[in-house]
Amino acid sequence: MFHPALFKGANVVVTGAGRGIGLEVARQFLDCGAHVLLHVGRSPRGSLPDFLESAVAEARAHVMHADFLEEGGADTVLRQVDSLFPHVDVLVNNAGTMVGRFPAGELTDEQYETVVRLNQTSVVAVTRALIPFLRRAPHAAIVNTVSISALTGGSPGSAIYSATKAFVATYSKALARELAPDGIRVNCVSPGTIATDFHERYSSAEKLEATRRTIPLQRLGTAEDCAPAYLFLAANSLSGYITGQVLEVNGGQLMC
Ligand SMILES: NC(=O)c1ccc[n+]([C@@H]2O[C@H](COP(=O)([O-])OP(=O)(O)OC[C@H]3O[C@@H](n4cnc5c(N)ncnc54)[C@H](OP(=O)(O)O)[C@@H]3O)[C@@H](O)[C@H]2O)c1
Repeated sequence: MFHPALFKGANVVVTGAGRGIGLEVARQFLDCGAHVLLHVGRSPRGSLPDFLESAVAEARAHVMHADFLEEGGADTVLRQVDSLFPHVDVLVNNAGTMVGRFPAGELTDEQYETVVRLNQTSVVAVTRALIPFLRRAPHAAIVNTVSISALTGGSPGSAIYSATKAFVATYSKALARELAPDGIRVNCVSPGTIATDFHERYSSAEKLEATRRTIPLQRLGTAEDCAPAYLFLAANSLSGYITGQVLEVNGGQLMC
């Protein structure tokens, strides 16, 4: 694992950190000495994992919630950041989900807008709100979660979700150019098929097993497989010459 002081004193914001990939990313930043604001999702958490309880008690972790489908979700993050941090070293935009599987011919306006607002608009809104804080850090980094489906188109019923992830990948490249003069690097992590609550909801056991057999490394990924890619892309000492890139974490499921 990374050096325990890799992010010592750094201020890190992770959205969608209530479970799955985001929670593991936050845990690994905490293990490396960061101060972390965890946006845990739409609602407060009843109980926190032990590592997080201890970090909250030490005032190294701060937990908040905001529904990104409601007006003002990004402003709520901004207010929390403003009350905690003079600057932000790392922003991880990770909150998102498929919402449902919507066949293209039956997709309603409301379903379309929900998927876009959560996976695309909220990334733009949170990023825009935090750019002034990122500019104040000496070597800031943004790491956005996209998806293998941004390149493959995903599976039936996920067209809009997959397209939002492609949007975020392209948005990140544009931001990488635009923010480079401010010393801010922007990259993406693109998970393949990762065993989290996400697939509990949207994929059957049979579909997951069929997918597993197609993966060269012969297993689904885990949140632990993904998190180090975020820390690598966030650390100026490890990836200071990398910006505008998408790092695919998929066991070889897609090679291109
Ligand atoms: N798992 C995979 O195979 C996979 C593959 C490619 C990309 N991804 C992407 O990876 C990221 C994390 O996914 P995961 O697998 O860790 O999924 P997850 O366990 O479902 O976690 C998703 C996170 O997003 C939050 N979120 C969902 N709806 C929200 C809303 N309306 N407002 C604010 N927060 C909301 C969730 O909070 P709540 O508790 O409120 O729901 C949760 O913290 C997502 O962007 C996902 O699209 C996942």
